[in-house]
Amino acid sequence: QPLLAALSSAAVPVLPVVVLEDAADAVPLARALVAGGLPVLEVTLRTPAALDAIRAVAAEVPDCLVGAGTVVSERGVADAVAAGARFLVSPGSTRRLLDAMDDSGVPCLPGVSTASEAVALLERGVREMKFFPAGAAGGPAYLAALAGPLPEARFCPTGGVTAESAPGYLGLPNVGCVGGTWVAPPAVLADRDWARVESLARAAASLAGGAPP
Ligand code: 3PG
Repeated sequence: QPLLAALSSAAVPVLPVVVLEDAADAVPLARALVAGGLPVLEVTLRTPAALDAIRAVAAEVPDCLVGAGTVVSERGVADAVAAGARFLVSPGSTRRLLDAMDDSGVPCLPGVSTASEAVALLERGVREMKFFPAGAAGGPAYLAALAGPLPEARFCPTGGVTAESAPGYLGLPNVGCVGGTWVAPPAVLADRDWARVESLARAAASLAGGAPP
């Protein structure tokens, strides 16, 4: 099942994105997200700890749907899937990356930030995509403007999304969920404040859901 469709049917409006410096933080983090009602986690492949973090969550927190973000190469696709990533997210989309994602066997959200990039994905039969960097690329107004000409595309806006701006995206007909680091921000991770993550997750989980697939 495509990722946004799965999150929508599970009533999960927010995809938490994390940059982890220490793989040992992954399991308590994932448990805090699950406890707060967000049973999903995107671990970005930006740190040496990322693959170990994905492996640990996949093995120890089965309730948490763990995936890899910042997947920008064929190597990233292969490493993430081997580590147990159950979905893949990329800030962009190239033919090589899309071919690798097609072969990965897991749901993928390749990234776009323009109408032409979205049309290129629709041409390939890809209907679910990340809109990145959402705030800088035009925010809810830009996505709202794509809904008319490209009604079949479903977006996960990410990049600069906050607890305050999330509802403006989630109210759009072409947004399935929103992604961001505000649920587990760097300062909270540095303090290993899992109770804080749980309460941020609970607030995020209570946002009104996005559009159906
Ligand atoms: C991403 O990888 O999508 C961004 O880094 C999200 O980060 P932000 O929510 O802090 O903008």
